[in-house]
Amino acid sequence: MEKRIPVTVIDDVSKTDKIMKALKAYGIFTAEITFRTDCAAEAISLSRRLHPDMCIGAGTVINAETCEAAIGAGAQFIVSPGFSAAVAAVCRERGITYYPGCATPTEIMTALDAGFSVLKFFPADVYGGEKALSAFRSVFPQVRFIPTGGVNAYNEARYLSLPNVAAVGGTYLVADALKNYGGQV
Ligand code: 3PG
Repeated sequence: MEKRIPVTVIDDVSKTDKIMKALKAYGIFTAEITFRTDCAAEAISLSRRLHPDMCIGAGTVINAETCEAAIGAGAQFIVSPGFSAAVAAVCRERGITYYPGCATPTEIMTALDAGFSVLKFFPADVYGGEKALSAFRSVFPQVRFIPTGGVNAYNEARYLSLPNVAAVGGTYLVADALKNYGGQV
C-alpha cells in the first residue's frame, strides 16, 4: 500500500485524466475516487483504462449497491467512512480489499470481529488525531490505521511516523498535485 492515498472527488469525468496525470507526476500511483459525485463509476473505469499503472479504488462506499457499482467499474479496493457489514460481504465475495472506517473502540472491535485490521480512521482530526491513534495502539496493537479527515501537508509526517499508521488519506494530495503539476500535464 502506498503511504499517501489521495481522496479524489471528480465532479466532471473529463477532468479524470488530468488529475491522474498530476498525481503520477507528484509521485502518487494510487487514487481513491469517491462516490460523492454522479460520475464516480465512470471516472474509475476511465482511470483503469488510461492509467493501468495506477491502483484505483473507490471511496465513500456506504452500501452494497454502490460497492457493486464500484467493483463493476473496476475499483481495486473499497473504502467506507464507517463499517458496513453489507459492503464487507460484497468485497469478501468478490475478493476485493476493503478498508472500513472507524472512529471509536467499539467500531474498531466491530471491524476486527468481521476480520478487518487495516482501518480508515475518520474523521481523524475530530476524533483525537495522533493522540487517539497512540491510545488505540496500546489496546489494538494488531490494527493499522489510515487517518483521513484534516490530514494535510503540515501534519502528514507526524501521522506517518506513528507505528500503527499504514498510510494517510486526504483531499489535500489532489489539490497539491494539481497545484504543482496541473499546469504541466
Ligand atoms: C474523506 O472522505 O476521507 C475525507 O472527506 C477527506 O477529508 P479531507 O478533505 O480533510 O482530506
